[in-house]
Amino acid sequence: MAVKGTRAPVDRPVDQPGEAELLELVRAQPLPRHVAVIMDGNGRWATQRGFPRVAGHREGVKAARAVVRAADTLGLGYLTLYAFSTENWNRPEDEVSTLMSLLERSVHSELPELMARNVRLRVLGRANGVPAGVRRGMERVAHETRNNTGMQLLMAFNYGGRDELVDAFRALAARVRAGELAPEEISEAHIGQALYAADVPDPDLLVRTSGEMRVSNFLLWQIAYTELLVTPTLWPDFSAADLYRAVAEFQGRTRRFGGV
Ligand code: FPP
Repeated sequence: MAVKGTRAPVDRPVDQPGEAELLELVRAQPLPRHVAVIMDGNGRWATQRGFPRVAGHREGVKAARAVVRAADTLGLGYLTLYAFSTENWNRPEDEVSTLMSLLERSVHSELPELMARNVRLRVLGRANGVPAGVRRGMERVAHETRNNTGMQLLMAFNYGGRDELVDAFRALAARVRAGELAPEEISEAHIGQALYAADVPDPDLLVRTSGEMRVSNFLLWQIAYTELLVTPTLWPDFSAADLYRAVAEFQGRTRRFGGV
């Protein structure tokens, strides 16, 4: 029954829980430690509205900000966002350069809030090929936030999962050549320790927006037992409530890690 003076928000049916209720619901259950997100659909969001693709990326930044806040409010330990893949260099030059400056500026402008929230930013990916100014800007924010002890925000930037494995294998090969490690001693743990963020636990949940059923070279080693969730929502429309719904779905799943 409607209470006098209250009104159901127009954008959702009355029987669906809103953001605050969802937050309370998911907080009552064990949380995933690490959520990774493939933020897809910015271009389609813009094209559907007759806007240039970069307008979708600008809206995508707003969605990313909302999701970072929501993840921190929820109490996640780690949030990894796929911001720019090694394949993204194949996009038209003006889109790439706009994306570069947009990502750099947004990371920079978030610094005060990251500090206030005690969030540590880390950048995953190869430095090679990234314009020096962009890389320096991001590294500065990573450096400024390095002692923050709250949520870790990992930004995969100029990131490729296969590149990460190539880099790991090269590092291990160098150790073998130096006589520190015998080839037959190499274990999963050695490979895990040679990854870009060796201390970070594997993602428990990987969310991909915009309906594509692909992992697109993201965290290939780390997602061996990760729960996958694909939502048709385009990234600029993805909200805090959507993150909480994704976590609620995760909480309803049974993880078997290959067992029964
Ligand atoms: C996918 O949309 C998104 C990207 C290429 C990554 C860029 C992400 C943002 C700008 C979001 C903000 C992120 C941070 C960390 C501040 P798409 O262009 O692939 O969409 P499409 O598949 O519809 O073409």
